[in-house]
Amino acid sequence: MNRREQSPLNILVTGAAGYIGSICAEVLLSRGMNVIALDSLLEGHTAAVPPSAVFCNVDLGNRQQIEGVFKQHKIDAVMHFAAEALVAKSVKEPSIFYATNVACGVNLLDAMTRHGVRHFIFSSTAATYGEPKTVPIPEDHPKAPINPYGKSKLVFEGILADYKAYTGLQYAILRYFNAAGASKERGEHHRVETHLIPRVLDAAAGDLPHVDVFGTDYPTPDGTCVRDYIHVLDIADSHVRALMEIDRVSGEAFNVGNSRGYSILEVIDVAERVTGRKIPRKLGQRRPGDPAVLVASKEKLKRVLGWEASHSSLEEIIQSAWGWKQKHPRGYENDARASA
Ligand SMILES: NC(=O)c1ccc[n+]([C@@H]2O[C@H](COP(=O)([O-])OP(=O)(O)OC[C@H]3O[C@@H](n4cnc5c(N)ncnc54)[C@H](O)[C@@H]3O)[C@@H](O)[C@H]2O)c1
Repeated sequence: MNRREQSPLNILVTGAAGYIGSICAEVLLSRGMNVIALDSLLEGHTAAVPPSAVFCNVDLGNRQQIEGVFKQHKIDAVMHFAAEALVAKSVKEPSIFYATNVACGVNLLDAMTRHGVRHFIFSSTAATYGEPKTVPIPEDHPKAPINPYGKSKLVFEGILADYKAYTGLQYAILRYFNAAGASKERGEHHRVETHLIPRVLDAAAGDLPHVDVFGTDYPTPDGTCVRDYIHVLDIADSHVRALMEIDRVSGEAFNVGNSRGYSILEVIDVAERVTGRKIPRKLGQRRPGDPAVLVASKEKLKRVLGWEASHSSLEEIIQSAWGWKQKHPRGYENDARASA
């Protein structure tokens, strides 16, 4: 995108008190941009918002509040992380997912249109593909999401194409695989934690009695599910690259993953080596809706945007998450704001 002469870009980051949004905000600030950090604090934590960002406690369901943000700040681009993102919740309460991941997103796009803000990066997900027919999964793989979370994200991807056609929106879609890891200052703290690596580290720290392993009879080398883990700092870097090239790549979707799969048991083994602790595991039945293998093709992100992961080893990913957990045993609870 064209930078305004000499002045830093002002980026509106939604979901900036959440896991990936807060770390992306930190990276944007470290690269000389200004951040307007928006979050309803439904899930996120005030302490996660970098202090040098301007924080707006705003719910994207409230069009007046959003209008206030756009009136008050000159915004050059929006990175949209805010979402409901728990797959299991989406199966029980799909309406919340369509309200937040679709309707709230439309509120945001409408405010952008009114204020002439044209650049948008969208956090999408591997869940848009559903059960993969080929692995590694390329971006043009058929989209057949198997839960309302993935469906809500796919619906919004389609809406973005309409806004491009009718309002001139320039956007890129980034479909992350399994985000993991931490920066020095910020890490993963969901009130209901379903992600494997934080749960494994909770078990290593004695905060959980064991890690549940759902299914040991998948057609994978050790029978457990295989996933593609991507460092949150590499996700942040993919956002910056997509934004800088948005004129060239507008309308495109990119996978963000390492093209390398690890089974659940392999993740636990690596975590045992990193932490030096024994991690109890409880082998159980498969859960419905868990594909055996989800691994990204990263070829397009590399070819089109020149992106390469800087932190691709699982050891490094887990080490960073463990380092953060040791400094913040209760996550953001009782934390003052982390530094920028
Ligand atoms: N974590 C992953 O592995 C992963 C993988 C693929 C895609 N994603 C996507 O990345 C994005 C960020 O994920 P995360 O793990 O950081 O989630 P998160 O839950 O930590 O962060 C989401 C943030 O959005 C905020 N939010 C929710 N509804 C809002 C609303 N109506 N108005 C304003 N703020 C609202 C929450 O308070 C929270 O701080 C999501 O869009 C998610 O779907 C995440």
